[in-house]
Amino acid sequence: MLCLDHQGYIAQIISPQMKDYQLLIDAAKKADCLLELAADQVILPGFIDLHIHAPQWPNAGVALDQPLEQWLNAYTFPLEKRYQDPSFAKKVYANLVQELLAQGTTTALYFGSVHNLGNLELVKACYHYGQRGFVGKVVMDNPQQTPEDYRDLSTAQALRDTEDFIKTVQQLNQSESIPVTPVITPRFVPSCTTPTLAGLGYLARQYNLPIQSHCSESDWENDYAIQNYHQRDAEVLNHFGLLTDKAVMAHGTLLNEADLNLFQKRQVALAHCPISNVYFGNAVLPAKEILERKNKMGLGTDISGGFSPSLYQNIRQAVISSHQLHEGVDARIDPSTRGSSRKMLTMKNAFYLATVGGAQSLHVPAGVIQVGHYADLQIVRQNWQAFQAETPVMRFEKFMYHTTKANIDQVMVQGKLINLNQGVNDD
Ligand code: GUN
Ligand code: FE
Repeated sequence: MLCLDHQGYIAQIISPQMKDYQLLIDAAKKADCLLELAADQVILPGFIDLHIHAPQWPNAGVALDQPLEQWLNAYTFPLEKRYQDPSFAKKVYANLVQELLAQGTTTALYFGSVHNLGNLELVKACYHYGQRGFVGKVVMDNPQQTPEDYRDLSTAQALRDTEDFIKTVQQLNQSESIPVTPVITPRFVPSCTTPTLAGLGYLARQYNLPIQSHCSESDWENDYAIQNYHQRDAEVLNHFGLLTDKAVMAHGTLLNEADLNLFQKRQVALAHCPISNVYFGNAVLPAKEILERKNKMGLGTDISGGFSPSLYQNIRQAVISSHQLHEGVDARIDPSTRGSSRKMLTMKNAFYLATVGGAQSLHVPAGVIQVGHYADLQIVRQNWQAFQAETPVMRFEKFMYHTTKANIDQVMVQGKLINLNQGVNDD
């Protein structure tokens, strides 16, 4: 049982093993701060989605047979363009934020679109439905790599809109109990001009804000950086002040040893997006090795590069992909080059990424059930039958493989119970 304080922090953990258990329970009940569980319920930290494109939600599962560049140009940019209409944005974002909460995601680091009015609808959806949001106005102004009808028109406009967005969100936050954090968001190196990358690095420093981008996701992206800057994309981002201890870089499947050292030195976090990487990553991220070398890392759905809004599904895929890496992608190759068992993630590792890893990456006191941390929680019904004696580890593993949205009874963000039954168009 947990006792929560009025600011939404976990104030006390009361377990039946404690000497004064009944006294503590009675006192907590009296103080009206007790969170009680039914016999078949378990309580977990809420999940943290460290990389998701909110405007791509209507395309989740669409055109995943295309290479990244075609997928962006033919499917993704035309959809994102529609968010110039704030009413379309409002409808989609209300649905997405509620869906994520119902899936147990209490915090999300969102890419928006280029449009400030649309992005503000995402910010308002986070406030309204009670999610802890980090939201970035996407910046993409390179005429060679972005469509004419969906881009920032100049460096000046891109930077002005980014700054306006920051100021507006900071203003709106003043009347909210769970603030939304604005995030500096260059889409990725190819989509931005050089002065814009430099200007965004400057804004990140000026406002001391988180930064998000894509890094070393695809051969195409890497080749672009080499051709245009004679550097790898991680080095380009670093050059412009975009690799800080508040930066979260998505994918990273092609990061090399030097890049990972740079990430570690700068305390940059990696958002591992295991479902999306199967389609667009051009490689399997060696997640276990990256964890072992103590780089910061969390887990992202990457909607709609990934099809699933569920971090449970992404936890499973993180484990599955790490097994593929272990076996080697091509069974005909020399077995000695196939990898080693060191490369496999355990279910515990993957769960860590979706909770503690994400919380550390975003510097939020969440992701664990510990006194002094936010009560960002999910209460899940574990109602499947056991046919044999099960150890806690067995129960945990079965739980992680089998839990669906239907099992999630309650979700709480900063001590506030989320209404999981609101209508899609509820405002
Ligand atoms: N690289 C640049 N933009 C995107 C995007 O929207 N999705 C993915 N997966 N990679 C990108
Ligand atoms: Fe992405």
